[in-house]
Amino acid sequence: MTEPALPSFPDGFLWGVSTSAYQVEGAVSEGGRGRSTWDTFCATPDRVYSGHTGEVACDHYHRYPEDIALMSQLGVDAYRFSIAWPRIQPEGTGPANAEGLGFYDRLVDALCEAGIAPAATLYHWDTPQPVEDAGGWLSRDTAKHFADYAALVGERLADRVAMWIPLNEPMVTTVYGYGIGQYAPGQFLLLDSVPTAHHQNLAHGLAVQALRAAGARQIGTANNHGPIWSATDSAADRAAADYASDLLNWLFADPVLAGSYPEQLHPLLPTGFAEDLPTIAAPLDLYGVNYYEPTQVSAPSEGNPLPFDLGAVEGYPMTTNGSPVVPDGFRQFLLELRDRHGSALPPVYITENGCSYDGVDDQQRIEFLDGHLRALHAAMQQGVDVRGYFVWSLLDNFEWSKGYQPRFGLVDVDYTTQCRTPKSSFHWYRALIGGTR
Ligand code: NOJ
Repeated sequence: MTEPALPSFPDGFLWGVSTSAYQVEGAVSEGGRGRSTWDTFCATPDRVYSGHTGEVACDHYHRYPEDIALMSQLGVDAYRFSIAWPRIQPEGTGPANAEGLGFYDRLVDALCEAGIAPAATLYHWDTPQPVEDAGGWLSRDTAKHFADYAALVGERLADRVAMWIPLNEPMVTTVYGYGIGQYAPGQFLLLDSVPTAHHQNLAHGLAVQALRAAGARQIGTANNHGPIWSATDSAADRAAADYASDLLNWLFADPVLAGSYPEQLHPLLPTGFAEDLPTIAAPLDLYGVNYYEPTQVSAPSEGNPLPFDLGAVEGYPMTTNGSPVVPDGFRQFLLELRDRHGSALPPVYITENGCSYDGVDDQQRIEFLDGHLRALHAAMQQGVDVRGYFVWSLLDNFEWSKGYQPRFGLVDVDYTTQCRTPKSSFHWYRALIGGTR
């Protein structure tokens, strides 16, 4: 099964678990929280599997002490969670809502007391609805509002939060949220969604400034990355794969790490974008990679308005969510990132990696994690400086438009009783962490 034993990771390597606010908190009408785009999206018919919503989710808002106790049992060094912007600023602008800040203040204190380092994401897709109504990420002003929000949170929590991630996976917001409408806010703009990438990148840069001014240490980002494979060796397929890689990977990594955008995407960016690049490229302390799977691409078929076709990666086992399990894609991408950005790449943290499988005796999740950690170790042997790894996720949770059906947790959640049951993978991860310290 998982023989031979995993190679050992360096002393001080950080082991963690991740969640995000809308996916686990619930309590959407408590503590003065305002509405977010995901509340709206879930209330729109046929957007989310079976009408599921984040209204209750895992009730982490009330049960975080129990969840921290689970993390203590697991032995993790760090917990990556996200702060809900609409809890801090219910209207998306203006003064902080004391109850909202108070909740995260208590969460952070409880983590510190348990000896677990808090790693805070400021934005995991839950835009305050009034900000969306004013244009959302299509509007440059959203970047400025986001920086104000970052300042409010930074001023309160910078003394205790160990790691900061301003935005999670801006690619997903751009492509799924504004490009193809599968996620909130559900717009179908195809390549006209690219300005939302620039405004999120700018929001990142401005938030880094605001956080530094508030005394935050260890600031990074968390981008969703994976290798883009060309379906064949033909020039047309390779050009399509190159374009897709620019759009899905480098549109978000290059400006942050190198202060530039892939040239073929320049025509899609807002006028004057170059002036923002120095702000976006402010030096970071760490770079977060969320890895799930590779993507296969071929030349566009007739009638496709995009310059590439997305195809299925075949010949690999699949998770219940339909993702191919390709550990070596992880190693491949990390080397590609290192080769592209060289010494400009700060220490890497794997801010998410995980899979959906059913059942409490989840041997497949163990195999998945084991395989991906071997691939990660191989990338480190080949010179990529990786300092930590966060499993997605601590708990089964609300998997966006797929609702509660996919189960990504190390801990099973019974959504009727809110009973938490550690899975086999929880015990496996615990033994792994215990053995490497
Ligand atoms: C990445 C996202 O950040 C997270 O919200 C999501 O649940 C996982 N991928 C799994 O799809």
